[in-house]
Amino acid sequence: MSGMSKVSIPRAGVIGFPIKHSKSPALHSHWLKRYGLPGEYVALEFPPEKFEESLRRLPRKGFKGVNITIPYKEVVLGFADSITDRAALIGAANTIHFHADGRIGADNTDGYGFIQNLRQNAPDWAPSSKPALVLGAGGASRAIVWALLNEGAPSVRVANRTKIRAEKLASHFGAKVEVVDWDRASEAMEGASTIVNTTSLGMEGQPEFRIDFDAADRDTLVTDIVYAPLMTPFLKKAAEQGLNTVDGLGMLLHQAVPGFESWFGRTPEVDEDLRQAVLKA
Ligand code: ATR
Repeated sequence: MSGMSKVSIPRAGVIGFPIKHSKSPALHSHWLKRYGLPGEYVALEFPPEKFEESLRRLPRKGFKGVNITIPYKEVVLGFADSITDRAALIGAANTIHFHADGRIGADNTDGYGFIQNLRQNAPDWAPSSKPALVLGAGGASRAIVWALLNEGAPSVRVANRTKIRAEKLASHFGAKVEVVDWDRASEAMEGASTIVNTTSLGMEGQPEFRIDFDAADRDTLVTDIVYAPLMTPFLKKAAEQGLNTVDGLGMLLHQAVPGFESWFGRTPEVDEDLRQAVLKA
């Protein structure tokens, strides 16, 4: 084969535009170091007009695959050579595996990461027991709604400031997704196994999510995809009201597992050491 790389170690990375705030290099580098594996994980900033061309060049440079982030998670499905069912259903990909012949395989591990985080940190969580409530209807919401349905949630209530986005999401996933008015979100907590914030409210520099959990069942699990800060005002309020909470950092950590495994050949662990390494990055 021509164009063989000088680099013999397996490589992977994360592609976005911009990319400088990504925590993924710290995350994967921690695992490579911990397991003493040969390999490299880098941040790559590809401009939109060069995205596909640059991505297709990577296998020849020793790349086994990459993570994909904003703004390319949906775009990449337009030209991927194979797409997993879950990526197709979610409508976005975050993990790419290059086949030996350079073909692009696209997967989405965000919903998987969401579930694994809750399983690890709330072992008694029973997502199939009762409906779930998802706040927000953007890209992250789609992955989470898919994941909750896949775990057997009898239904998923979705509330979004812009109602039409929630309606689009509901029509995509079918009868088990129920749209709730944004100003009724608090009432829709009643009878929910799980309450999730997928909006950007509560993120550093963003307005707080002001909502109370009075209507929530005592055994509901409350989680947030925002992890900076770790304890968002949303989670803090839920905890003050006596509810069990899980922060969002674990979703980021767990979504990285399948990629690392496929590129570097070892199933990595998500533990406190990793959390600290990523928090420091
Ligand atoms: P992502 O892919 O991370 O989910 P996104 O697609 O931009 O990002 O979605 C952001 C979500 O946060 C949306 O649900 C958005 O609501 P709108 O669809 O009404 O924009 C929600 N969001 C952002 N700022 C918000 C705010 N100030 N109040 C309520 N919801 C907000």
